[in-house]
Amino acid sequence: MQLFIDTANIDQIRTAWSWGIIDGVTTNPTHIAATGRDFDEVLAEIFRIADGPISVESVSLDADGIVREGRRIAALHKNAVVKVPIIVEGLKAVKILSGEGIRTNVTLCFSPLQAFLAAKAGATYISPFIHRLDMVGHQGGELISEIRQIYDNYGYQTKILAASIRNCRQVLDAALAGADVATMPFDMLEALYQHPLTADGLRMFLNDWRKVPPSKLFS
Ligand code: E4P
Repeated sequence: MQLFIDTANIDQIRTAWSWGIIDGVTTNPTHIAATGRDFDEVLAEIFRIADGPISVESVSLDADGIVREGRRIAALHKNAVVKVPIIVEGLKAVKILSGEGIRTNVTLCFSPLQAFLAAKAGATYISPFIHRLDMVGHQGGELISEIRQIYDNYGYQTKILAASIRNCRQVLDAALAGADVATMPFDMLEALYQHPLTADGLRMFLNDWRKVPPSKLFS
């Protein structure tokens, strides 16, 4: 499963990218607004730092507008992916953009049948929003399993990008259900590394190491 960072915060993207385990970036209008910075400049910096798929969201609500924005986003950089909302006009635009070889990420998916339609339109990625579903008493993990089954039944190549992730259990559920990608905030990526027994074990080993006579190997 690939890991994307879900932010437009440049410092966080730079730090996470240096870890060597991040494959791409997803942004949305909320993330861009949170930077308080010029949109074009923020995108240019992200493209310089991260060499992987970078989703940039369109904001028009009609197919012509989305296609126009999508072409501009795609022209920015070879790694650009156009994020499009799952509405009728959005999927019309996805059909056109994918016909031109432009990669798309269909966002705000909350049902397996929405994901089915996105695949029919030729989406590169479908983004089911896991935590937002969990918050209203549904099961985000189940949604991923159902999309996986539909895509496998019919051989759709659209990649499942588990989005809106807020805890480690949701990452595990996404991986077990066969998501192709999981995108999450910086603090979630950090949390994936952590386990209290790792911290305890490391502390014990380093305490014991103090009892070992100095070695040339580590000097
Ligand atoms: C994904 O591409 C979205 O940017 C993101 O995951 C939004 O979800 P959230 O606002 O619930 O975190």
